[in-house]
Amino acid sequence: MSSSCFRVFVFSCLPVVAMAQAPAAGNAQNGRELFVKYSCYACHGYDGHGGAGARLVPLPMTVDRFTAYVRSPRTPQMPSYSPKVLTDAQLADIWAHVKSMPASRGASDIPLLARIMSGK
Ligand code: HEC
Repeated sequence: MSSSCFRVFVFSCLPVVAMAQAPAAGNAQNGRELFVKYSCYACHGYDGHGGAGARLVPLPMTVDRFTAYVRSPRTPQMPSYSPKVLTDAQLADIWAHVKSMPASRGASDIPLLARIMSGK
């Protein structure tokens, strides 16, 4: 294959692959950056497992409930983020990121803790 032919091959296929891998709602990679940029991590931890704020992972909320919560949190400890600060699309990205973060393993899935708990 000549190099120009190869280039045509690469550029005609790449966008198709990228589209096929895009998640249904929200871009988790972009959400990861927004999670840091808008300080969510400061209260919820980089891994979403909580610090001063609540544990976010695993997240049971739909993207709509998530957006509604972040727009007007039930607690005064969390700032509200208006659409001027974070658009619905950006919140969908953050939601996708939070959804993609792994939950922590249960104690019984960690060999040392399982042994301690069983008393053996
Ligand atoms: C200054 C600290 C702070 C920041 C910054 C913050 N949060 Fe929170 N957030 C909290 C606290 C505290 C709660 C827990 C409220 C409770 O226990 O009911 C909370 C709760 C939540 C909940 C509800 C969790 C649940 O299961 O009820 C979501 C979703 C959430 N935050 C998302 C975000 C996102 C997304 C950002 C960034 C855009 C963010 N938070 C930034 C403090 C913060």
